[in-house]
Amino acid sequence: MLLYSFVFTILIYGCTALSVLKTGITASKEGKLWFLTTTHTSYVVGVVPDTLELLNLYWGPRLTSMADITLPVKLPVERGSQEPAITAAHEEFPVFGGLRYGPDVLRTRFENGTRELDLIYTDAHLKKNALTIVLTDKAHKGFQVSLSYTIDVENDIILRSAVIKATTKESYHISKALTAAWHILPPAGNANRELVTLAGAWAAETQVQRHTLHPGTSHVLESTRGIPSARAYPYFAVKDTSSDGEHSDNDVYFGSVAWSGNWKIQVHTDTEGKVTIIGGMHDRDFGYDLKKGEKLELPTFVAGYTPAGLSGARKLLTNHIRDNKDTDLVSDPDALSPVLYNGWEAYEMSVNITNQMEMAKKSADMGADLFVLDDGWFQGRHADNAGLGDWFVDTTKFPNGLKPLADYVHGLGMKFGLWFEPEMVNPDSDLYRKHPDWVYHYDERTRHLERNQLVLDITRTDVRKYVADLVLSTIREVGVDFIKWDMNRPLSDTGSALGQEVWVGHVNAFYELVEMVKKEGVRFETCSSGGGRADMSILKKVDSSWPSDNTRPDARLMIQYGSSLVIPPDMMSCWVTDSPGNDNRTVYPISYRFHVSFMGALGIGSNLNKLSDAELKEYKGWIKIYKSFQHVVQKGNLNWLVVPPHANKMTSATETYTAVTQSTTKNMEESVVLAFRQYSPFWFPLPPIKLRDLISDAEYSVNIWSSDPTKTVFEGKMTGGALMNIGLNLPYLTIQAYSSAVVHLKQI
Ligand SMILES: *[C@@H]1O[C@H](CO)[C@@H](O)[C@H](O)[C@H]1NC(C)=O
Ligand SMILES: *[C@@H]1O[C@H](CO)[C@@H](O)[C@H](O)[C@H]1NC(C)=O
Ligand SMILES: *[C@@H]1O[C@H](CO)[C@@H](O)[C@H](O)[C@H]1NC(C)=O
Repeated sequence: MLLYSFVFTILIYGCTALSVLKTGITASKEGKLWFLTTTHTSYVVGVVPDTLELLNLYWGPRLTSMADITLPVKLPVERGSQEPAITAAHEEFPVFGGLRYGPDVLRTRFENGTRELDLIYTDAHLKKNALTIVLTDKAHKGFQVSLSYTIDVENDIILRSAVIKATTKESYHISKALTAAWHILPPAGNANRELVTLAGAWAAETQVQRHTLHPGTSHVLESTRGIPSARAYPYFAVKDTSSDGEHSDNDVYFGSVAWSGNWKIQVHTDTEGKVTIIGGMHDRDFGYDLKKGEKLELPTFVAGYTPAGLSGARKLLTNHIRDNKDTDLVSDPDALSPVLYNGWEAYEMSVNITNQMEMAKKSADMGADLFVLDDGWFQGRHADNAGLGDWFVDTTKFPNGLKPLADYVHGLGMKFGLWFEPEMVNPDSDLYRKHPDWVYHYDERTRHLERNQLVLDITRTDVRKYVADLVLSTIREVGVDFIKWDMNRPLSDTGSALGQEVWVGHVNAFYELVEMVKKEGVRFETCSSGGGRADMSILKKVDSSWPSDNTRPDARLMIQYGSSLVIPPDMMSCWVTDSPGNDNRTVYPISYRFHVSFMGALGIGSNLNKLSDAELKEYKGWIKIYKSFQHVVQKGNLNWLVVPPHANKMTSATETYTAVTQSTTKNMEESVVLAFRQYSPFWFPLPPIKLRDLISDAEYSVNIWSSDPTKTVFEGKMTGGALMNIGLNLPYLTIQAYSSAVVHLKQI
């Protein structure tokens, strides 16, 4: 039978033009089998004919034809009675139940006390590039899980989500509900694997970490703080590493959980070297009750495969976000991020109409497009221990409200932005004095403060309405064009009418608020003490993100290296702030600070009153240069030609603390290279930097600036071939600490 179907398949698919798999999702007529085909990859799922389990059959480089998969779909052969076939199988949605001992995604308790699930395939629907596969519990037929698959063909991304439904009168208690499992076969040849993660902390976000994947181990990446958090970004990349020098070590499987709350990704490597990755909402204190007609929607877990290393993974994931913005909320995803000025570091909470108008005038003269008033503008807000919740303008600082400032800013040709932290309240506020029951709390427990604040229970309709009314009316009355939405503490003491469902409820309430604000037509920056809430879900709904409160340029290079794996450059807000800062022994040249910030969406956070005329002129000069290639660095593909040294550790005496990026437009006609040399302890000259992604036989004009925006240090012409093969000499990166250069290439 097996032989027969094999021969039959060859005849059908081997001899007709139809055999070639086209991009899109294709269902096989041979069995319950679906091929998800993107430009360069294939992902295949199928149903075991008799027992109806849903298995992954392939994920990797694009297959040619359906005949590449041998049918029928089967469970693996058991090695022994202690190694059940179902545990070894690549189940798409491995639940808790039966002979399953690997990572599981779903746990449920039924009314009659049964705690195990037994899901089988019952149905499938395929509409264009969207596939839904329905699994139903064998005995409790009202318990249904609809797995959803969509694909981003161009960016080689598979998107998975799921909906759990109760369709009969039986109710269910769900205690764990992750979104998906992904399976990767052992690497070929002698390759090993490593896991690349983005761990961090406040002011030290998205640090690239590498972990060897030893057989028989599990790595758990997570946040339990109610937000994705600065401690870890919900991202994984599993990368081949080969030491035999024979083949490339660039195969990368990567993915991210798109959820702005508690999340978990577990990377499990079994003894045979197969890797299973499960991820979704965290199961810590998770609980969800479903009654007839109710459903629980699970967040999207996206993943992709590329043979082009981390640079390939970076390009695919960031382009996926850019190409798939929620266009109901982001009406013009192609718009450039404006050059902003924000006076937070200059005045902190001592803002007033006089100093803000003064800053506005100076920032307009400098070339800023957007002026942002940060914390401190509202009633009672003189320090971080009071005022949050009372979103009424402080008339001692702004006697006639904020409108005169907004009008003045608009008159200068800039947009006006405003800071909010709407989910929060200080106990010292009129709001809390009036409604102490509006925060998450347990009556008999301490209400734990962080930064002197408590978290509002925005899952309550009345609380959400209060917050929304104030934010929306301020936007309308003042004429606000941009909102910076902050969130400065984790959730705790989460007593709420929702019970354990609060962890999901808070995130959905936050999304509802974000959507209301976005529908006002404002730009929106997500911030949570820096990069604590910049997961893919919020990135698709908003315009920009604040990657870190740390604006030290040497720290920023490393933070931006990590965040560039997930955050599109136009959404990565990069400020130039004053130097020296807290560390007054290190002085970073203005040029170095600007060049680091050129990598994404440029912002200025300096106290402009403290700058000399010459310094103001230099700021203005760099802003002008930035604007000449803003579209390249924001919308082009960001590539790291030399990664910051800490990310790889110093390996030899010839290493210098150097980092080089190249951003190139899709058509390869324009490119910007940013090169940094933090210091060079051994005075070795920098070897030529070989560029990438240019047109070999095209000629490019080359303009280079180093420490002075008013004059180029080099102007000339070079072919793409020479730039890529011989490389670009950058003698401007001298032995002097913090030397840097900016190169603008344009096809002639
Ligand atoms: C639990 O529910 C299932 C499905 O309704 C039923 O078949 C089974 O007998 C029940 N078990 C007990 C102990 O009631
Ligand atoms: C505004 O702040 C400045 C300091 O930045 C201060 O000199 C000035 O007196 C303040 N103006 C008012 C009206 O408070
Ligand atoms: C540098 O900072 C230290 C510690 O805060 C302080 O004592 C010192 O005066 C500062 N030096 C300068 C030049 O500002």
